[in-house]
Amino acid sequence: MRTMNCKTACLVSPILGSLIATVVIAMATTSATATMTKTTDSFVLAPAPFESWAANEMTTSFAKMRSNIFPQGMLPGMVVASPSTSDPNYFFYWVRDAALVTDVVFRSGSTAYAASDRSQMMENYLNLTLYLQRSNPMHGLGEAKFNPDGSAYTQWNSPQNDGPALRAITLIHYAHELMAQGRIDEVRNKLYDGRVPTSTAIKTDLEFVSHHWSDPCFDLWEEVFGTHFYTRIVQASALRLGAQLANDLGDGGAANFYDQQARSIMADLPNFWDDNVGYLRVTRDVQGDNRGKSSGLDTAIILGVLHANLSQDGTQGAVDFGVLDSRVMATAEKLEEVFGTLYSINDPHRFADVGTAIGRYPEDRYSGRNGVDYGNPWVLNTAALAEYAYRVANEAKVQVITVDSRNLNFINRLTGNGPLGGKPVQVGLVIKPGSAQMADFTARLHALGDLYLKRVQLHANADGSLSEQIDRYDGFMGSARDLSWSYASYITAYWAR
Ligand code: NOJ
Ligand code: NOJ
Repeated sequence: MRTMNCKTACLVSPILGSLIATVVIAMATTSATATMTKTTDSFVLAPAPFESWAANEMTTSFAKMRSNIFPQGMLPGMVVASPSTSDPNYFFYWVRDAALVTDVVFRSGSTAYAASDRSQMMENYLNLTLYLQRSNPMHGLGEAKFNPDGSAYTQWNSPQNDGPALRAITLIHYAHELMAQGRIDEVRNKLYDGRVPTSTAIKTDLEFVSHHWSDPCFDLWEEVFGTHFYTRIVQASALRLGAQLANDLGDGGAANFYDQQARSIMADLPNFWDDNVGYLRVTRDVQGDNRGKSSGLDTAIILGVLHANLSQDGTQGAVDFGVLDSRVMATAEKLEEVFGTLYSINDPHRFADVGTAIGRYPEDRYSGRNGVDYGNPWVLNTAALAEYAYRVANEAKVQVITVDSRNLNFINRLTGNGPLGGKPVQVGLVIKPGSAQMADFTARLHALGDLYLKRVQLHANADGSLSEQIDRYDGFMGSARDLSWSYASYITAYWAR
């Protein structure tokens, strides 16, 4: 029987309870195979307490992710997006997913995998990258997806130019570790040779990103062609990190060029802000089908800010498009508000004491199931909002936070009967490091992050496995099972916690 985690207390009233039962049964009769085993019993499972579930889920996530790395039938270094081979078939290598997952492997240090296993995974990833870069696929370096045998998958939207940027970020992290270990020859042979044309992985991607960041391409959701905030911000991040690495390796001319290009991207990012709606819009200059995305509201903004990680530079104050940027807070708040009312599982009468389940964008209709035409909340997007809350807390506590018209609603949602007032705060309020107000603010952010992770806990399968989506009506895991990126996103959220 498929079960999900849920407190008995979720069923706040018997009337609602029977309503849910009706919905579940109705669904069971319409799509027999997928929902046959769903019963209302599953809703009354007593879950583990959050703390122990959350710690356990780390172990589960690392283990499940590991089985998706170089699985049988794929090339060494490949990460399968999901082991699901039908409805949907995700038995492919996506450059984006693999870069994000491999970065988690890298960052796990000695905490998750044996040292030899981890270094083998990193080495395989690097060798595979060199191989795929040289394979000259149809859409060039922006080729988004490969078959298990390493040939390009050409039946879906490419190029997606976030890929080379994410890949560079992951490999730059790795290069620094090798350099620290004195393995400079390996770095120069395979990662960064400072030559043009180059035969090394990072340099190949940086040359591409620095010369092509302004090219329009498909977005991270593989649907819309245009200019995307997500793509641009991870490109800026790759170029900044790349400039640093180039400098370290004595390639000063390239360092200057990468840095300049990063600055040009950063100078353009404010153009994604739309004052009329009060959030950062996901795409500009759409060409062709925009998938009905009239709102322009998209979790891709938060994902971009997290993956680009621009505030790690150690700069004082709210770094532009870092987590403390008011425009980013405004966008996070809007996502919370819109998804809160969009999905029926977010009705607090059905499930109490958990955060909002978050989707990709409100107009989304991709269910990952043939013949089902409605979009759902996703695990990785919900985990991203958790990570965002934790990271705001982590960075805020050493900074001065000033309430302005853009971050006002985000901060106000966190006010309560503590030093933050219990009544709405006002524009102009300054929250200082070390103050009682700051302590209250960060504690509330932490609690907010926990609420989002409790939402993931609620819908996770009882064995801790995570799919791509959460059905918006019945709350069961949906679409691709054991999605690598779902596990990676849970892990990085928990790390931020
Ligand atoms: C269609 C979805 O809309 C898109 O987001 C997804 O990436 C592709 N299918 C591939 O599964
Ligand atoms: C669909 C998502 O839209 C895309 O971002 C992802 O790369 C693929 N699924 C594979 O997980």
